[in-house]
Amino acid sequence: MDRVKTGVVGLDTMLNGGFLPARPYVVSGPTGSGKTVLAAHFLLEGLRLQEPCLLVTLDEPPIEVKANMATFGWNMDRLKILDATPDVRAHKRQRSVIDVGTSLDVRDMEDVTDIRQSSQVRALEVTVHSVQKMIKQEFSQHLERTKQRYKRIAIDSMTALKMFSMEGQDSRILIQSFLRFLAELEATTLIVSERLDRRKLETEFFLGRGEIRMHKWIDGSMIRRALSIEKFRGSAFDDKMHPVTIGDRGMVVALDAPSQIRGTSPEGKPGESLLETRLIDEVSNVIESVMRQIEEAHRRQIPIRDVEVALSRAMLAFQRRNYQKAMKIALACDSQLRERIAEAPPPPPVGMPPRPPVIR
Ligand SMILES: Nc1ncnc2c1ncn2[C@@H]1O[C@H](COP(=O)(O)OP(=O)(O)OP(=O)(O)O)[C@@H](O)[C@H]1O
Ligand SMILES: [Mg+2]
Repeated sequence: MDRVKTGVVGLDTMLNGGFLPARPYVVSGPTGSGKTVLAAHFLLEGLRLQEPCLLVTLDEPPIEVKANMATFGWNMDRLKILDATPDVRAHKRQRSVIDVGTSLDVRDMEDVTDIRQSSQVRALEVTVHSVQKMIKQEFSQHLERTKQRYKRIAIDSMTALKMFSMEGQDSRILIQSFLRFLAELEATTLIVSERLDRRKLETEFFLGRGEIRMHKWIDGSMIRRALSIEKFRGSAFDDKMHPVTIGDRGMVVALDAPSQIRGTSPEGKPGESLLETRLIDEVSNVIESVMRQIEEAHRRQIPIRDVEVALSRAMLAFQRRNYQKAMKIALACDSQLRERIAEAPPPPPVGMPPRPPVIR
């Protein structure tokens, strides 16, 4: 199978040639670690190969994105950018209206939790839907205009998008359906997402077929960066952490020297015992399997909303480090899904109109 190159020197070697096509991948890491630069490399590589590429920007307006990329001498004129930032600006305005403080950092999640509780901000919860609609429209217009599908899509970032979603269960279901929608576009998608805490398992990490994790830490007076591949389904990969430099021509991963974090690591895992790590892995595996079955059930239009809600509870328990409870719920979801998928009639042959969903 042809690989989809990221265009980052060193990273494609780590990925055994590149991503597998038409699947969603996640790039995670703290602020300033190089997520946006990596996403830009990925899109630039597509443009170089004459592939239609789309950037959905939520963090920075398109003009800033292009200006930042120009500092590397990259011409991104052929890149289609969907500007999803106006909602962020609306959010900023709302904030002054409800007077919850003065400085706004879109990454300040705790602040946002406070704001979310305001009924005024609820109005912005349509954002996930509207972004999905924007992408859908752009996709079909592009197909009509050029008879070509977008080959590469980058979403920068999921973290910003999620800020406008409701707290708790519904937001997870919303995000799950958004990710399913992305997967169905059959483009290779790069989803930028912060994951500062290993225990905070966000939906995209389960649905993503792979995760590239960016690291950034302070070593004396130097800021150091590195990169590792956390998972890559269906392929062999280099699982060591390698140093990253961002210079005049973008990002380079040095393969000769595996990186060792020295100095203060902001993303260290203090106090996480071996037993806890194993528990995390085991629960993650069950949740991951449940999510794959949810995808399957959706494809076959089997009603499973109750299972999705239960899974959200499992994920919440997981975040609270109540692994026993998380495992119990996830296993119950797993057996429910197996049962319903086994009982459901076989999928209709291709070409038949889909059955209307049954409301349970
Ligand atoms: N033209 C350039 N030359 C050298 N270094 C640059 C250049 N552009 C950006 N950088 C460096 O790359 C770093 C990573 O930038 P990037 O925007 O990719 O981070 P990020 O992970 O997306 O952060 P955030 O979560 O805040 O969006 C910047 O902090 C900056 O130091
Ligand atoms: Mg960024």
